[in-house]
Amino acid sequence: MKIGVIGTGTMGSGIAQVFIERGYDVILNGISESEIKNGLNIIDKNLDRKVKKEKITLKDKEDILKRIDTCLEINELKECDIVIEAIVENIELKKELFKKLDEIVKEDAILATNTSSLSITEIALSTKRPDKVIGMHFFNPAPVMKLVEIIQGIASSKETVDKVNEICIQISKDSVMVKEAPGFVVNRILIPMINEAIGILGDGIATNEEIDKAMKLGAGHPMGPLELSDLIGNDVVLFIMEILHEEFGDDKYRPHTLLKKMVRGNLLGRKTKNGFYKY
Ligand code: 3HC
Repeated sequence: MKIGVIGTGTMGSGIAQVFIERGYDVILNGISESEIKNGLNIIDKNLDRKVKKEKITLKDKEDILKRIDTCLEINELKECDIVIEAIVENIELKKELFKKLDEIVKEDAILATNTSSLSITEIALSTKRPDKVIGMHFFNPAPVMKLVEIIQGIASSKETVDKVNEICIQISKDSVMVKEAPGFVVNRILIPMINEAIGILGDGIATNEEIDKAMKLGAGHPMGPLELSDLIGNDVVLFIMEILHEEFGDDKYRPHTLLKKMVRGNLLGRKTKNGFYKY
């Protein structure tokens, strides 16, 4: 089975890593040589860390990396049995991409999106195979987090769901089946919680360290909500809150003004080396 991954950011490269580590051949598609290089660097560093910890040998690392190929043209994904898209969260770009993919991949190929909150149904309708379009939502860092949300759009078939579930088992991920709805399951719970933490900070009730410590020690979370927001990207957190707010029309999902201000000020978290913490 050949896997195509589109997008070389944290999620795209992380998803590609998951597959090559489990023995699959992957073609990673990026928008430029430098973006592809960045994606490969992320994978290389992650694997180096595993070599240092003696979880894999240097030879294992070399063998894993041999299974990844890269390309700039999506035409080169035509032999893939499944293509997983992990590009920027822009519905028009995704629809355009899926329309093109639909024209080039095999008739029975599955087209999956790693979208964090956009409509699978809407993306699927840009293709002539909506039954084979599905959400495959990985979590950051993808090589570590166990879960994949399998999201069924209105037309996704049971056969597609079953195939994707089988793939998740093969790559040692656990899955949950979700019917399409804004934010699916995890982000509908997690992102408003982060927004609430930002509200607590904005109201001056506790410092960033205190809020994170409270949730780590008081609720057993591996990371506090503000450090997690920095990991996800504060722009991504804002984007998901805006989708929840717009789709449900419920003010309980209103993004906090401090979050908006930080995004306007390019304090996006780890990727800009500045967010709720400095990196
Ligand atoms: N990439 C790859 N591997 C990583 C990594 C990264 N960015 N960060 C840590 N790791 C690996 C480490 O190498 C280590 O591997 P090992 O067990 O084989 O030695 C393992 O993860 C644990 O790392 P550490 O010991 O350094 O640190 P922690 O025990 O604190 O774990 C963490 C780090 C896994 C990130 C943990 O803090 C965690 O689970 N945090 C919560 C993450 C989370 O909630 N993610 C979901 C975000 S929401 C999302 O992605 C959805 C999207 O749509 C917004």
